[in-house]
Amino acid sequence: MTIPLVVANWKMNKTVSDATVLVEKFLEIAPLSLQVEVALAPPFVALYTVGALLANTPYKFAAQNVFWESEGAYTGEISPPMLRDLGCHYVILGHSERRQIFRETNGEVNNKVLSVLKHNLFPILCVGETLGERENNRITAVIKEQLLTSLRGVSDQEIQNVTIAYEPVWAIGTGHAASVAQVEEVHQFIRKTIDSQWGQQLDTRILYGGSVSPTNAGELFGSDQVNGALVGKACLDPESFAKLINLASPNT
Ligand code: PGA
Repeated sequence: MTIPLVVANWKMNKTVSDATVLVEKFLEIAPLSLQVEVALAPPFVALYTVGALLANTPYKFAAQNVFWESEGAYTGEISPPMLRDLGCHYVILGHSERRQIFRETNGEVNNKVLSVLKHNLFPILCVGETLGERENNRITAVIKEQLLTSLRGVSDQEIQNVTIAYEPVWAIGTGHAASVAQVEEVHQFIRKTIDSQWGQQLDTRILYGGSVSPTNAGELFGSDQVNGALVGKACLDPESFAKLINLASPNT
């Protein structure tokens, strides 16, 4: 069975001081023996502090983005070796906010995916359609393009280190998550696309993201198509994040 993964995407929230308070509170109440893998993705400036607080706990930490070059004259950027040196595990790539606000293309996401894999980090590739694309029956076309372009050149070996997060843009930050039926339909399509491209039955972990909360998580995690969640708003409150982890645990 695939162990579920729950990732806390803090987005551009929390100063380093706030992050310390949040993680300390979270560690007081969070379950310590896990049947769920958990990663916290604070902003870059808080990664070191959060990583230090999570040392000797079962929790991992993740970055929300990265640049593809290893070093050099790229003012304002952060490289995969810098993240690796901190002990960072996952890197969220291709989030819809990066695609929409910062105009990231599938080609750029592809460069990042390849670089992250090369430096022994684990990409969480976000894909998902907008409301307009859903209404125009373009869900599978959009997601297929996002998957195949962003993962171009990934080897049979490397694909096993890739996690996909299905995040319908219309569900993010709206308080209205996709229904389990909607999620299952797209997750099945994602799995089929990856398996047929890499020509094998892979155990790819596919997360759902978009207004996941303690209210709807039980139902979402109840689906065998959902291998965990990428959570924004609900993970900024340590109690609700701890609840989500419990709900994701296979025995609850
Ligand atoms: P949300 O964000 O849970 O606040 O909808 C999810 C995400 O953008 O990853």
